[in-house]
Order: sequence, then structure tokens, then C-alpha cells
Amino acid sequence: MSRKPIIAGNWKMFKTVSEAASFFADVKGKAEVDGVESVICAPFTALPSLVEAAKGTTIAIGAQNLHFEDNGAFTGEISGVMLKDLGVKYVIIGHSERRAYFAETDEIVSKKVHAAFKNDLTPIVCVGEKLEEREAGETKNVCSVQTVAAFQGLSASQAAEVVVAYEPIWAIGTGKSSTSEDAQDVIGYIRSVIAGLYDDATAAAVRIQYGGSVKPNNVAEYMGQQDIDGALVGGASLEPASYIALIEGA
Ligand code: G3P
Repeated sequence: MSRKPIIAGNWKMFKTVSEAASFFADVKGKAEVDGVESVICAPFTALPSLVEAAKGTTIAIGAQNLHFEDNGAFTGEISGVMLKDLGVKYVIIGHSERRAYFAETDEIVSKKVHAAFKNDLTPIVCVGEKLEEREAGETKNVCSVQTVAAFQGLSASQAAEVVVAYEPIWAIGTGKSSTSEDAQDVIGYIRSVIAGLYDDATAAAVRIQYGGSVKPNNVAEYMGQQDIDGALVGGASLEPASYIALIEGA
């Protein structure tokens, strides 16, 4: 089973509309490499112009969150219907920052994954342990619980489409990345959890990224591991040259 590598930039709460436009003009034609999927997950405000700018390119545009309902009295929220309407292709779900600061539970993550599929969006589901959980030897257990919840109720064909991002929380934005061997160990385990939920063929189709202080100079090392299919990148995805180097490095 060959899985297409996928590098996704998670801009978090960075970039105005004009900054996003300038970034895109700089990476267009360069962060486009045969055989590597390139995704930019931008703030909601920048999505309409980015989707427009990305037309005719191989760069896909993603959101960083969605509400699980299609519409309703949810002040300040954005739904999958709205993202689909814009032409957005991917959506990050369950990022540790949303779990920590916005009380996103495994149950909410599951509902959001279903909302994504309902609206033809590909979910990039984040899982990963806190430092204290790692130190307590709980890494695999935490990732298993989060993975099982995220795949809850999905058909095998939907499951095969999910992108999982393993992001150890202690490695996010800290410059302390997991070694590629450790990341492979956990990601291989996550794949085995998916195989247990479905079957080997489904698990072999799921793309699993590593995230946490990925940079142009270490991306190839992660990509060299057999179960690591890409990266979800924060800080190093914000500068055009660095983003291009990440895509080239994959
Ligand atoms: O979602 C990507 C992220 O949380 C990792 O951030 O800045 O460590 O690459 P960073």
C-alpha cells in the first residue's frame, strides 16, 4: 500500500488576509512537488481568498476547526457546510490547543469527524500525550483512547480517508522534537490500533503524520520512517522559504 505523503501547515492564529495572500504568491509553483500533498490550514478569515488563489494549483486549503452542527444558534462558530461552500478540502480536528483551551473532548472530536465527512472535508485528527503522561509511560494508552474515539462510527472506507496527526504535546512549539524512532514507535502503534478497529488493509491506507517542532532540517528524517506519512507543522510553516523547504524535504 503506497500512501501519498502529506505536509500540512497549521498557521494557528497567525496571518491577516493580506499576509496570507503574500505568502501564497511566494509559495505558488514552488511548494508544489509531484508525489507530495501540500496543505495550508489557515485562520477562517483568510480561507476565501486562499481558496481562490489556490485554484489551478496542487495546494489544498484547510481550516483549523469546525462546529459539529451544520447550522444553529452557536455564536461565533463555523460549520462544515460553510467550509465546503468555500471550497475548503481539509479540516484539523482535536488539536491539543483546542483540547486544552476550548474543552474539546474525545466525544466532540468524534462528532466533528462525522461533520467533516458529511461535508466532504478530509479530517486531520490530532492525537498525542502530555509530558506527564509520557513520563508516566501512558503515551500509547492516551493515543489509543484518542484514536479509538476519533474513528468511532466511521465505515472502513471513511476510516481510510482520515489523516491522523500524532503530536506529542511537549514537542509543540518547544523546539523539543520527538526522535524519529520514538515517533515511528508511537505512529506504528496507532496504525495497529486502527488495524484492530478495522483490518490491516484499512490501517495501511490511513496516512499518519508526525507533528511537533518539525523543521526543514528534520522533516526528511521523520519521512524516512516506515509508518510516518507526513508532518503537521506550526512555526516552520509560516515563512514561505521554510514551507517550500518542508515540501521539498518530504
Ligand atoms: O499543529 C502543528 C503544531 O501543533 C506543531 O507546532 O510549531 O511545533 O511545529 P510546531
